[in-house]
Amino acid sequence: MDNIYWGNFDTIGKYDRSLFEDFAAQSTEEIRQACCDEQGKLVHLIKADHFDLSFLETICETAKAARKIAKVDFEFLKGLLKHKSVLNYFHQPSSRTFLSFSSAEAYLGMRREEVRDMKTSSAIKGESDKDALRTISSYFDALVVRHPSDYFDLFALWVMKHSDREIPIINAGSGTKEHPTQGILDYYTIQESMKRELDGMSIAYVGDCLRGRTVHSLAKIMSRHQNTTAYFVAPDHLQIDAETEKYIQQRGTIIHKETASLQDIIPLVDVIYMTRIQNEHGGAAEYDPQFIFTKSMLEEMKPGAILMHPMPKREEIDPAIDYIHKDQRVMYWRQQRNGMWVRVALLAHFFGVDEKIRKKYQEITLTL
Ligand code: CP
Repeated sequence: MDNIYWGNFDTIGKYDRSLFEDFAAQSTEEIRQACCDEQGKLVHLIKADHFDLSFLETICETAKAARKIAKVDFEFLKGLLKHKSVLNYFHQPSSRTFLSFSSAEAYLGMRREEVRDMKTSSAIKGESDKDALRTISSYFDALVVRHPSDYFDLFALWVMKHSDREIPIINAGSGTKEHPTQGILDYYTIQESMKRELDGMSIAYVGDCLRGRTVHSLAKIMSRHQNTTAYFVAPDHLQIDAETEKYIQQRGTIIHKETASLQDIIPLVDVIYMTRIQNEHGGAAEYDPQFIFTKSMLEEMKPGAILMHPMPKREEIDPAIDYIHKDQRVMYWRQQRNGMWVRVALLAHFFGVDEKIRKKYQEITLTL
C-alpha cells in the first residue's frame, strides 16, 4: 500500500490508512458485492475473480456486435454515450490500454479527458490520492485507472464507496496483481479463435508468471471453465504467485510448473501466452533464451493452437514471426485490436447501452 499517497500530515495519513485497511480486509465476496449494484450487476470492474461465465459471455457478444456494427453504422455507436464523460487516469506508462480505451470512448461518442503526467496534477501541491479521486468524481461519469500499486484498484473503490457521487471504477492495471480488462480481451480472443468449447483447454503462461498481472487475471478467468490445465513456464524465481495458484487450484484447474524450457510444452497446449519480464517491478530484464518462442516452434503447435502476448513484447518472441502475414496461429496483433472492442463493450455495460448494441447487431444480421 506504500504507493498510495495518504496526505501530508501524519494524522491524516494514519486515519485514512486504517479505515482503508479495514475495507481491504473484507472477504472476496464482500468486496465483490461492493462492486455490484442492488440488482447484482457489476458497476465497478476491479478484480478478475468477480466475473462469472454469464458476464464474460455477454461482454464477448457485445464486443463482437460493436465490431460488426462499426463497419456499417458508425453513427449508431457514436450516438450511444455522447452525454457521458470519462477520465483516463494513468499513473503508469501505457500504449495499448490507454489508446484502446480512448478509441473505445470515441467510438461511443463520450467526452474523454486524460491525466498521464502526475507533475501536472495537484498531487504536486500535496493533495492526497483520496482527495484527487473525489475531485475526479465531481467532473466525470467514470474513471479508468492504472497505477503501480497492487492496491490502488481497491483504494479507488473504497474512496467511491465513501463519496456522495459514486462513479464506476475500471481497473486498467493495478501493480503486479490484476489487469482485468486485459483478461477479458484475452478471453475474447481465445473464444473468437478457438473452434472448440473452452472447457478442457490447456494454456501455457510463459515468462514472468510472478509479476505478470495479465497472467493472473487471465488464469483466474479461465479457471471458470471446467477441466482446464495451466502450464506456468518460467524459471523458479518468476513462477506463479501463491495467491493465483491457490485460487485457480481451488476452482479445479490442473497446474504444471515448467522451470527449464518452453520447448516440450509447445505440442501440449491450445494457447501459448508469452509475457515479458516485468522489470519495472525490480530485478533484471534479461530473458532466459530457453523460454523464447522461436519461428520453428510454430510448426510444433497443436492444430488450432494460438500464440498470444498481451504486449509490449521484447525478445521473448522471435522477430521473424512478425513478418508472417495472416497466420491464424499468430494472434497477438488481433488480440490488441480486440482490446478496443472489448472496452467498447465494457463501457456500454456500465452505462446500460450494451443490450442496444446486441439488438442493433441482430437487426443488421437480419437485413443482410
Ligand atoms: N497490455 C498492456 O497493458 O499494454 P500497455 O501497458 O501498453 O497498456
